Amino acid sequence: AKPNLAPTPPMGWNSWNKFACNVSEQLIRQQADAMAASGMKDAGYQYIVIDDCWQKSRDADGNIQADPERFPSGIKALADYVHSKGLKFGLYSDAGSLTCGGRPGSAGHEFQDARQYAKWGVDYLKYDWCHTGTRNAEAAYTIMAKALRESGRDIVLSICEWGTANPERWGPTTGHLWRTTGDIYDAWEGQKDWSHGMTNILDMQVERAAHAGPNGWNDPDMLEVGNGGMTTTEYESHFSLWAMLAAPLIAGNDLSRMDADTVRILTNKDVIAVDQDPLGKQGRRMLKEGDLEVWVRPLQGGEFAAVLFNRGKTPADMKLKWDRLGLATEQKADVKDLWSKKVTKGVSGSYGGKVAPHGVIMVRVTPQR
Ligand code: DGJ
Repeated sequence: AKPNLAPTPPMGWNSWNKFACNVSEQLIRQQADAMAASGMKDAGYQYIVIDDCWQKSRDADGNIQADPERFPSGIKALADYVHSKGLKFGLYSDAGSLTCGGRPGSAGHEFQDARQYAKWGVDYLKYDWCHTGTRNAEAAYTIMAKALRESGRDIVLSICEWGTANPERWGPTTGHLWRTTGDIYDAWEGQKDWSHGMTNILDMQVERAAHAGPNGWNDPDMLEVGNGGMTTTEYESHFSLWAMLAAPLIAGNDLSRMDADTVRILTNKDVIAVDQDPLGKQGRRMLKEGDLEVWVRPLQGGEFAAVLFNRGKTPADMKLKWDRLGLATEQKADVKDLWSKKVTKGVSGSYGGKVAPHGVIMVRVTPQR
C-alpha cells in the first residue's frame, strides 16, 4: 500500500517558480541554508526540491546523470548536505521520454531511476507529464509509485499531470499530492498559454474539495509569495486561500533574499496551522456574491477556519454568519484574526469587518462549550 508520508500537506521549497532551469548545487545549498536560518524550517517547511533541468544524460548502463557542470559534486553529496540541515531532499522527473525542459525522462527507466533516487537519499519525487505521447496517466503514475515503493526508501510522490486525466480518481491511491491545473504564474489574475494567475487557479479548485484528505492532497501549484508580481495584500490572500485549500505549501521564491513581509507571510504560524490541520478536510467556497466570497474549512475538534475574501477594487464590509459554519446564531465562540492576531471572545451570530481590496480577513472560530 501507499506509505503514509503526507498525513498533512507537504511543506517545502521548489526551484521552478523563481529559477526555472537555472539550478545548480550552489543554489540548492544556499536555499537549504536559508530555509534553516530564516525561520522557515521552524515554521514547518521541510522539503528542498530541485525541479526540472538538473539532469544531463544517461550513462552506457542507462543510469541518469546530473549535469556535471551545474552539480559537480553529484546529487548524493547535495542530498547529504540538505539532510545535514535537518531538511529533506526532493528531485524531479517526467513520465515521458523527455522532461518539459528537454532532459531525459523516466519512461522505461522507472525502476532503475527509483533505485538511483533511493541510493542518493531522495525523499520526494515530483513527476511531470511532458512528452508522454499516448501513455495513460493512471498507468504511468502507478508504475512509478510501485518503483518508488520497491526502492526501499520512503519517497513522497508528487503527481504533476495538470488535472488532465481525473487524477482525483486514482491520485489518492497512487501519490501523495496531485496537481489540479496547469502552472501558476506570479500575478493576481490572467491567463497565458497553460499558465494562470493566482485567482484563476483558485477558481479551478472549487469543484475538487471532496477528494482531498490525509496522505492525498489536491495541489493547486506552488506559492508565488515573495516573487514580486503581486502586492503584499495579494500575497496574504494567496497564502490564506492556499491554507484553506489544504494545499501543499511549497515556497517558490528566493529564500536567501526575503523581505520582512515575505517572511511574515510564509511563516504565519496560525495560517500554517489551518493548512496543516490534522482533520485534513479541504475548505470550500460557501458564498460568492460578485467580488465577495466566504470560504470555510472545518478543523479538528469542532473549530473552523474562515476567509472573507474581497476581489474588488474598493474596501468591503463583510460578515461571516454562524449558519455558514452550521452553528446556531446564539452559539458563543472565540474568534482569532490570523493576520492581525486580535482575539475576540464570546462572539455570537456573526463576525466581520472591513476587508481591503484584494484582501482577506482570515479567522479561526472556536465555539465555546
Ligand atoms: C511543468 C510543471 O507543471 C511545472 O511545475 C514545472 O515542473 C515545469 N513543467 C518544469 O519543466
